[in-house]
Amino acid sequence: MSKPTFYITTPIYYPSDKLHIGNTYSTVAADVAARYKRMRGFDVMFLTGTDEHGMKIEGKAKEAGVTPKAFVDNIVTAPGGIIDLWKLMNISYDRFIRTTDDYHEAAITRVFKALYERGAIYKGAYKGHYCTPCESFWTETQLVDGKCPDCGREVKYAEEEAYFFKLSEYTDRILKLYEEQPGFLEPKSRVNEMVNNFLKPGLDDLCVSRTTFTWGVPVDFDPGHVVYVWVDALFNYMTALGFENDRYDDMRFWPCDVHFVGKDIVRFHAIIWPAMLMALDLPLPKKVFGHGWLLIGGGKMSKSKGNVVDPVLLAPQFGVDALRYYLLREFPFGQDGDFTNDLLTARINSDLANDFGNLVSRTVAMVDKYFGGTIPDARVSGEFDAEILALIGETVPAYAAHMDAFAFQNALQAVMKLSSRANKYIDETAPWTLAKDEGKRARLAAVLANLLETIRVCAVLFTPFMPDTAVKIFAQIGAGDRTTWDSVASADASAPWTVQKGDTLFPRIVDEK
Ligand code: MSP
Repeated sequence: MSKPTFYITTPIYYPSDKLHIGNTYSTVAADVAARYKRMRGFDVMFLTGTDEHGMKIEGKAKEAGVTPKAFVDNIVTAPGGIIDLWKLMNISYDRFIRTTDDYHEAAITRVFKALYERGAIYKGAYKGHYCTPCESFWTETQLVDGKCPDCGREVKYAEEEAYFFKLSEYTDRILKLYEEQPGFLEPKSRVNEMVNNFLKPGLDDLCVSRTTFTWGVPVDFDPGHVVYVWVDALFNYMTALGFENDRYDDMRFWPCDVHFVGKDIVRFHAIIWPAMLMALDLPLPKKVFGHGWLLIGGGKMSKSKGNVVDPVLLAPQFGVDALRYYLLREFPFGQDGDFTNDLLTARINSDLANDFGNLVSRTVAMVDKYFGGTIPDARVSGEFDAEILALIGETVPAYAAHMDAFAFQNALQAVMKLSSRANKYIDETAPWTLAKDEGKRARLAAVLANLLETIRVCAVLFTPFMPDTAVKIFAQIGAGDRTTWDSVASADASAPWTVQKGDTLFPRIVDEK
């Protein structure tokens, strides 16, 4: 039987600047979900990429004195660029789309024409404001103190001939979508935002072409117009599968299982995107998950504020896996959280160095010391065993439920609870006392086997978050091929165990202050 499919996407990022820890957060989260689904036996398509057209990029290129294409190449594919950042962060994407890829551009030309031919877009005149950093249109009444309501920056007045998408016709259909498909937009708080801020007041038609610059996909039936960058961008999720092009043949992944997006762009994904798909009679994505922001000192990270955190600097200092762990353990995925180096250090030291890392190194060292590395088969169970084995049994389904709901923080808490319980089990069973008594060898063997089994289960569950570290743990504890999801569904401590001491998994971070 063929495997069930799972299609997950990140936003495609603007290559207007180097990416920061906020963009890395979206991408790491999607990577964790993709790795988890692969582990669960799904045929996964994990898409990420870059959103390379638009006024913002054109302006940046002009400032730099290069062509827009040279400008984006320098940020995307050049050494130290976005592709390299994802390599550094161990992102297992299956496909990387650039909106300047020719197959995508050609598909967008056709999509725009199809929308026009169906009467979903019409020609008119735009009069209003434009926020270039957000690439979004605003009416006078939507502005807050004359500034962009999303980012608070200056907007430009624009008056130009333009095509409009009849978004106003979709207010009721989008409301109905939220009602009939309650999982369409998560977390729930985002639904309220969309309903109160945009749907209740009624949607306006959306300007979908520009004439004041050229860096975009040209409208072939009306030279001088380029397709609005958000229309170009949103359809990436389908063109990357082969929609309206021959480059790929993967439409079996559509409809998408989940689009991970930051809360700043939920409006585009949960209103404009489904409306355009409705206009083309195409199936809608199953879910849009609008995650929170990483904040710095309570405010948004931005180049202009000079408070941007660079993952390229953090990764070598703290470790890629530790950083990935922190991002998903510290903050509930749907909510904002303050990013600080102090929290990062505290989290790595408490969970990874002192708790789990210590559990692994103590256990491996004891197996080495008391049994020369291999646990004998003669084992006797005893007090405290039932409790820890039962907790393994509870942890696996709890973890799965959290992961299926993209509640990464809760999933990690469940694994850490098991790790802490195993440390307590060491104190309860006191292997160093058992080791002094020749008559308790079989009991000592059982205790250490239970610990290795617990570590093994933790390592399997940690795999999507810390893939490289998990491999190191498996090697240290001699897990062999017992590294799969099926192998944790029925934990079995009676297996043979031969350990191999290795390097410290998570060195304690020393505060440099
Ligand atoms: N190009 C559009 C997206 C098009 S998707 C069809 C865009 N790009 S962006 O480069 O501005 O990246 C936006 C995404 O980066 C956000 O939606 C969010 O997922 C992520 N983040 C950017 N800053 C962030 C934080 N400070 N915290 C968390 N995520 C952040 O918008």
